[in-house]
Amino acid sequence: MSESPQETKGRRQVVKFSFYHVDPAWRGLPEEERERGKRALGDVVRAFSDRVQIRSYSLVGTRGDADLLLWQICDRLDDIHQLAGFINGTPMGPYLTMPYSYVAMTRPSVYVGRNEARAERMVLHPRDSKYLFVYPFVKTREWYRLPLDHRQTMMDEHIRIGRKYPSVKLNTTYSFGLDDQEFVVSFETDEPADFLDLVMELREARTSLYTLRDTPIFSCLAMGLDEALDSLARAGENGSVPAAKVTWQKVADASDIPPGSSRVVYYAGDQVAIFNVSGELHAVSNRCPHANGALGDGVAADGSVTCPSHGSRFDLATGQPLEGPAARPVRTYGLRVEQNGVLLGPSKG
Ligand code: FES
Repeated sequence: MSESPQETKGRRQVVKFSFYHVDPAWRGLPEEERERGKRALGDVVRAFSDRVQIRSYSLVGTRGDADLLLWQICDRLDDIHQLAGFINGTPMGPYLTMPYSYVAMTRPSVYVGRNEARAERMVLHPRDSKYLFVYPFVKTREWYRLPLDHRQTMMDEHIRIGRKYPSVKLNTTYSFGLDDQEFVVSFETDEPADFLDLVMELREARTSLYTLRDTPIFSCLAMGLDEALDSLARAGENGSVPAAKVTWQKVADASDIPPGSSRVVYYAGDQVAIFNVSGELHAVSNRCPHANGALGDGVAADGSVTCPSHGSRFDLATGQPLEGPAARPVRTYGLRVEQNGVLLGPSKG
């Protein structure tokens, strides 16, 4: 390291990423018992809110071996330790394991913000983003043997790429000597696609040559703790699975689809493109029957839409092909507007 202990002095935070997995047997418990367990766990977490900043995330559906993330930020490792013990002591404790656990701390970057107030880098300020992507990170030992100015040049490129994606906020925390990895990085964003593009571009940066390990990666959905706990096991009315019957369903606000615009929504297992042509709304499958072109990106005018891939034109009311290579009609959907809500109904064909 190139800094003296003096240069990293100041308030440092402890940061903990606790990934919990819930035993499937818990889902088989009577509902009252599950509710009791969730309530107790919620109470424990809330009781620590005067010492630990805790953000909760669900991984149900995004990861097979973890269900819940508690991202904890505080001043003392002891609080992290105590919180974990109390969680274990709740009625949910016997059903919880922690397959992934990362301890880290804040510190100023060696490569960024030499002119910035360093204290700002010592304190994390999570945003209210919808998604959090987390992974532990280890660099090769060769990296640390390179001269600092050589590393700085490579990091400048890395940082330049990061700045191209302002919708993604990076939090770097440090684990050297505290835990198995060297860093734990977490990215907050509302746009998972931006994060994907950023990571892909960073693979081409020279710093990537010196990455030893940057997995596992966790895709986490931000939600309040009660909601995150509810997401562990959901049921429809009377404990049943929600029926998959095709029925009228609100899919968008009409005000979000002004004249001349289009929007792709999900309905009845299909992607449906809704077009507003001079104030009139039409809904057809987003999939062109010729060769799967995205009709939602096509031009709609005079009651028809033209596929952007090879120019097939379809009647928006009937779905019939009017010109171009498509021989089959595109599926159309029932549509009505109620109190600004756009409702889609069963396919017309
Ligand atoms: S994919 Fe639409 S015309 Fe070819």
